[in-house]
Amino acid sequence: MIRGAFYSFSFVGACFGAGVLIRNQVGGYNYDEDLEHKMSGRTIIVTGANCGIGYETAREMARRGGRVIMACRDMDKCEKAKTEIRARIPNRQVECRKLDLSSIASIKEFAEGVLESEKHIDVLINNAAVMKCPKNLTADGFEMQLGVNHLGHFLLTNLLLDRLKASAPSRIVNLTSVSHKDGVINFDDLNSAKKYDPKVAYNQSKLANLLFNTELAKRLQGTGVTANAVYPGISVTQLERHTGYGQSKFSRGMTAPIVSPFKKTAQMGAQTSIYVAVEPSLEEVTGKYFSKCKEAKPSPKGLDEAVARRLWLISEKWTELT
Ligand SMILES: *[C@@H]1O[C@H](CO)[C@@H](O)[C@H](O)[C@H]1NC(C)=O
Ligand SMILES: *[C@@H]1O[C@H](CO)[C@@H](O)[C@H](O)[C@H]1NC(C)=O
Ligand SMILES: *[C@@H]1O[C@H](CO)[C@@H](O)[C@H](O)[C@H]1NC(C)=O
Repeated sequence: MIRGAFYSFSFVGACFGAGVLIRNQVGGYNYDEDLEHKMSGRTIIVTGANCGIGYETAREMARRGGRVIMACRDMDKCEKAKTEIRARIPNRQVECRKLDLSSIASIKEFAEGVLESEKHIDVLINNAAVMKCPKNLTADGFEMQLGVNHLGHFLLTNLLLDRLKASAPSRIVNLTSVSHKDGVINFDDLNSAKKYDPKVAYNQSKLANLLFNTELAKRLQGTGVTANAVYPGISVTQLERHTGYGQSKFSRGMTAPIVSPFKKTAQMGAQTSIYVAVEPSLEEVTGKYFSKCKEAKPSPKGLDEAVARRLWLISEKWTELT
């Protein structure tokens, strides 16, 4: 029961995490505030769009006139978020679709639905994440963080890839975290079956995101589809503080009054995702890592082509893509 409560809280951790971000860390900038660059006529998919950075990203895409598909696990929360966006923005093209990244069946169903309804997909923003949860397995037996943060998005991206290619120039944006720097891909126990430490597994999953960026960008060369990774500017210690924060009833009760600063900081955290999804000068930029609306240097670990390729092949097998 306690584990369950903690688990569910850490699942939304990624939503609130942005709220703990210190203002001056990302602070101050707002990408293209005047909306010079519109997204009209483009279809954008955002995973984990019902809260935090994902919500702010979806809202901004709607504000720019895009067709926005909010892909969420919890449809009630998704509908609520959609209603909130529509109340503020006169854009009817905002939709909720069910996507549970911890289930291959759900990912396939989502992808089939989207491929049926959307003639083109212009931007895919892989935003959803699970953070440092107690040991748990996905419907298909994957360790939860590897399963959702990496394998789930891996499969989703691959299932939508042909449509993204057909829609070129198009973009894939992947959220990652600085934790990738301390991540290690443990090929001997990728699924943490022998030993599970929530932080080790989280860091591994985030390094996996970056390695995929490396391999994907390589595979997409010449297709007009770009693949870039984004670090929203939240340090892990701040996220951790928040995860701890979520555990106490008292502090949870305190959340409500400070929701608006959370929103504000989530909005700041979303700026780099928005920049990479929208900025015209990035149309041909691929395989890069961005932070604070600028290109940045990831850890060399994230660029290791041999590890990236090995992980890709395993992921293909595990998600039954081949
Ligand atoms: C494990 O994951 C399932 C599916 O997401 C969830 O329903 C369950 O509460 C989780 N269990 C624990 C102990 O966190
Ligand atoms: C994003 O991460 C997923 C899962 O790690 C991966 O499949 C996908 O190729 C990545 N894409 C980019 C653009 O980094
Ligand atoms: C995970 O990454 C963070 C941030 O880089 C680091 O501080 C932490 O020590 C890492 N944890 C483990 C267990 O590797």
